[in-house]
Amino acid sequence: MASPKVEERAAALRELLHHHAHRYYVLDEPELPDAEYDKLFRELQEIEDKHPELRTPDSPTQRVGGKPLEGFAKVRHKLPMLSIRTETDIEASGARNFDGRVRRELGLKEADPPIEYVAELKFDGLAINLRYEDGVLVQAATRGDGEVGEDVTHNIRTIGQVPLRLPADVPPVLEVRGEVYMRRDDFEKLNELQREKIARGAKNEKTFVNPRNAAAGAVRQLDPAIARQRPLSFFAYGFGEVAPALDFGTQYESLLALKSWGFPVSDRTQVCTGPEDLVAYHQAVGKERDGLPFDIDGVVYKVNSIALQRQLGFVSREPRWAVAHKFPAQEQVTTVLGIEVYVGRTGKLTPVAKLEPVFVGGVTVTNATLHNEDEVRRKDVRVGDQVIVRRAGDVIPEVVAVVPDKRHHEARLFTMPKKCPVCGSAAVREEGEADYRCTGGLFCGAQRKQAILHFAQRRAMDIEGLGEKLVDQLVEANVIKTLPDLYRLGLAGLVALERMGEKSAQNLLENLEKSKDTTLPRFLYGLGIRHVGEATAKDLAKHFGKLDAIMDASVEQLLEVPDVGPVVAESIHTFFQQPHNREVVEQLRACGVKWQEGEPARREALPLAGKTVVLTGTLPTLTRDEAKDMLEAAGAKVAGSVSKKTDYVVAGAEAGSKLDKARELGVPVLDEAGLRKLVSS
Ligand code: IVH
Repeated sequence: MASPKVEERAAALRELLHHHAHRYYVLDEPELPDAEYDKLFRELQEIEDKHPELRTPDSPTQRVGGKPLEGFAKVRHKLPMLSIRTETDIEASGARNFDGRVRRELGLKEADPPIEYVAELKFDGLAINLRYEDGVLVQAATRGDGEVGEDVTHNIRTIGQVPLRLPADVPPVLEVRGEVYMRRDDFEKLNELQREKIARGAKNEKTFVNPRNAAAGAVRQLDPAIARQRPLSFFAYGFGEVAPALDFGTQYESLLALKSWGFPVSDRTQVCTGPEDLVAYHQAVGKERDGLPFDIDGVVYKVNSIALQRQLGFVSREPRWAVAHKFPAQEQVTTVLGIEVYVGRTGKLTPVAKLEPVFVGGVTVTNATLHNEDEVRRKDVRVGDQVIVRRAGDVIPEVVAVVPDKRHHEARLFTMPKKCPVCGSAAVREEGEADYRCTGGLFCGAQRKQAILHFAQRRAMDIEGLGEKLVDQLVEANVIKTLPDLYRLGLAGLVALERMGEKSAQNLLENLEKSKDTTLPRFLYGLGIRHVGEATAKDLAKHFGKLDAIMDASVEQLLEVPDVGPVVAESIHTFFQQPHNREVVEQLRACGVKWQEGEPARREALPLAGKTVVLTGTLPTLTRDEAKDMLEAAGAKVAGSVSKKTDYVVAGAEAGSKLDKARELGVPVLDEAGLRKLVSS
């Protein structure tokens, strides 16, 4: 019999887990990192294993997923959508335990040959069942509680990677299962957009905690127009109902079939022989994890032979032939020790949380960005709070949420300083902008340091040996006030600096000399013009050929450069209108910085020079990027929205409001054939 204390704990855990499961599955707004939820879940599971009489039918352990959301039609799955057992042991033993269990179940002896597995990534998104009838996508459903999910067909249709139609040779009834997810770059872009909307005063907008939540929110959006704006991706990894049944010999063959029918299948899928191969896969993927374009929370091992899978069968709702082997969590709870404000190269003030060191996403994190004032307010982060910190990939760690009910009530609300914490100049926030900026420009030591480091970096002027510590010293000693001062450094001045020997000083001077021989794109990029990255710098150099032409270009002329839009054009124009910026350029040239100037691209000769074209909808054979490249190669400018200045609109399937606008304005509309004709005219 369980003691009253254990009984009480089980009830409390059920209560807690119900609450958090609701936040996670129904509201898409979790308050706890997954790892914490899992811990509570396992604690309850263990109590129930020891004291089965405490296992109530409504216990969260008795359910796979969440309740379907009101507002969606319900879909009863023809075959239940299962979950897989999780090995949380992050060491190699996870794979060995699984292999041991499989061999025991199959009654194998030690001398028997090793088992063949397929190792796959465990994508961190949400499971979807796609139903095709006679090769046409007729329904897409979430997992829900595993038996009944939600009909989200409208939203899934907006995902470009999900085929709407399959080749003729597929079975008349085919259900494909896989994961809908959001790429990390798409997630960052989406949250950036959300932050801007919030800054502009939009109500009912929020940022998303992580890509999985953003994906779940998009899939379960009642308004498909909003879902369409949230870029989602898809990987297929299995099947639901298939009639007549397909006769695959192995899991791997079934994945190849999915691929041949046009489904995205991860190329990081691997056939493994025996547990040591699985261990090696787990380790290799663990190393690659940060560099992947999407989140994974582990790897999945599956017995490759379908015949063996059948023999192994299921325990409760989990197949015995598959297991998920997790990686360390990318979200953790820690305490905010303070909030400091950092000044960036463009003067942007960023609030940063100083944290009790915490191991997350494979590294120890002590700082996490809070982005801007509105974000701190909205999340209501205060010193002393317990917060969820996320670190995934190369993205800088961020505070995603406060853990509620752990607030120290005396904690003070954060306010942004009205003066730059580095130089004391006024910090201002422009109307409609999310950020405060220091108005000190290169008078501000922080901005000067960042500007010099940016100029010196490998991809710009490539001044070897000019690192952060040295730049700090040079700026603080007031030896360098503007970029050209770098080329005026002398041996005596350098040697006078602390910790600077004659040899290193000599080397630095040589490297500075070497850096003077550069290219126009490197130089342009190094100037640190807002919105001008490496790619734009290259485009500008190619288009104009000469620096003076860029410096004197009007906004209209800048807009003729492929990929340069109004914001970027305005920024370049404003930069070169400032006398002090022109002065810096002149002085750098006078110091001997030089490059080979080129000829302007001869766009006048191209068939579509001076024409503006807008693309909308899906073309039958060309991707959007291919169509854009074709148009640009022919000299056209590809714009994002239709206006009176648009010369042509190229429309494909499911073209939306842009097509309506074109008709309204009388802009000629072309299909793909028309586009091909136009560019070859
Ligand atoms: S197989 C019977 N393979 O992990 C096996 N699942 O509990 C059914 N997941 O939410 C799942 N990557 O959406 C499988 N390569 C993969 C997966 C994967 C992610 C998710 C799945 C489900 C959970 C399994």
